[in-house]
Amino acid sequence: MILIKGGRVLDPATGRDEITDLIIDGEHIARIGFFMPGPEYEKIIHAEGKIVAPGLVDVHVHFRDPGLSDLEDIQSGTAAAVAGGFTTVVCMANTKPEMDNPATLEYILEKVAKMPIHVLQVASVTEGLQGRELVDMDELKELGAVGFSDDGHAIADTSVMLKALQKVKELDCPISVHEEDEVLIENNGINEGQVSQQLGMGGASHTAEDVLVARDCMLALQTGSKLHIQHLSSGNAVEMVRFAKKMGAQVTAEATPHHFTLTESAVLTYGSYAKVNPPLRTFEDKKKIIEGLQDGTIDIIATDHAPHSDARKKKKTLQQASSGMIGLETSLALGITKLVHEGYLPMMKLLEKMTVNPANLYQLPGGRLAEGGPADIVIFDPEEKWTVKEFYSRSHNSPFVGERLTGRVKYTICNGNIVYQDGMQ
Ligand code: DOR
Repeated sequence: MILIKGGRVLDPATGRDEITDLIIDGEHIARIGFFMPGPEYEKIIHAEGKIVAPGLVDVHVHFRDPGLSDLEDIQSGTAAAVAGGFTTVVCMANTKPEMDNPATLEYILEKVAKMPIHVLQVASVTEGLQGRELVDMDELKELGAVGFSDDGHAIADTSVMLKALQKVKELDCPISVHEEDEVLIENNGINEGQVSQQLGMGGASHTAEDVLVARDCMLALQTGSKLHIQHLSSGNAVEMVRFAKKMGAQVTAEATPHHFTLTESAVLTYGSYAKVNPPLRTFEDKKKIIEGLQDGTIDIIATDHAPHSDARKKKKTLQQASSGMIGLETSLALGITKLVHEGYLPMMKLLEKMTVNPANLYQLPGGRLAEGGPADIVIFDPEEKWTVKEFYSRSHNSPFVGERLTGRVKYTICNGNIVYQDGMQ
């Protein structure tokens, strides 16, 4: 048994916020309350001054496995996840080969079963993420895909999207969508506007996102399916999700730390490290995203952890460089530094969007602290300052290198095992 003593226990699922102790017995949380230390505990974690919360859940990561292990693989991605306080992650389908067939899915499920945390996998919605033919969703769901996503690509054909929505409704799982209509994009990853003009190139217009978010919200309203909108970046799209929720659509939405932290001008400072799809946009867009987080329009914070090598980033021109940035190891600290400490969100709300809400999207048992529930826990110091330097991820494409952040993960515990301890390696 492990005793976690004297921490501030925060559980957004129940609203619990108190200084108390927690006993882990095997894979489960046995008791929450006050307990005397004793020989029955194989380990006592002194958590005074720390926050004890449910292990974080990230519904949007790219572990590049199979096929792109020079960027990341299941092991290195998992190492990054635990260092960031995550005990559950959901991997995207843009692997090589793509996650659109039983053999590739079986390969990955065998691999993730050996990981110390819950590494879940979505299958793609369409063959090769080409947006044309639906995959065999029944079979892939049956084999263990937790949901479906063509992330990285939009599903431009409305009839394909409608069929996919109808199918996920039948299968009772979410479809997660990347909303950017390529027709309205000249160069992806750079906002169409002041900065793209300054750089003398075309960009990716927010309208590309707005039109697909509007379409899919209305389709979801019609079908009653669980539609999850990934990485919102446009203020108009936030408004659209707000409207769709009011109308009764089963829509959820996520924002990434980079979209609530940075604006389009980051491309001028960090070059391709700030190139991401959908792009970083204006101050007004960022403000709308923060408002969406505040009023619950945006339910979830997800990283879109997207590892890329220098060969794909720095050694390319801005137009040719790959889009994306890593995020697992900086996500919690960015939330604490830029949302909690700036007064935009209370700590409980930040954690709600990183634990119970993402867990609920996939109907997972984690994301909460309950007696008898899984012992998936993060312990972090909400005041400790640190400078972003090195990563467990195989890639280091982050614009936040050198940034001084507040909030540091001390322990990550999954299935009752300590899977990460600050300063362990
Ligand atoms: O910038 C991005 N990179 N956005 C995505 O949606 C995909 C990701 C990747 O896979 O690199």
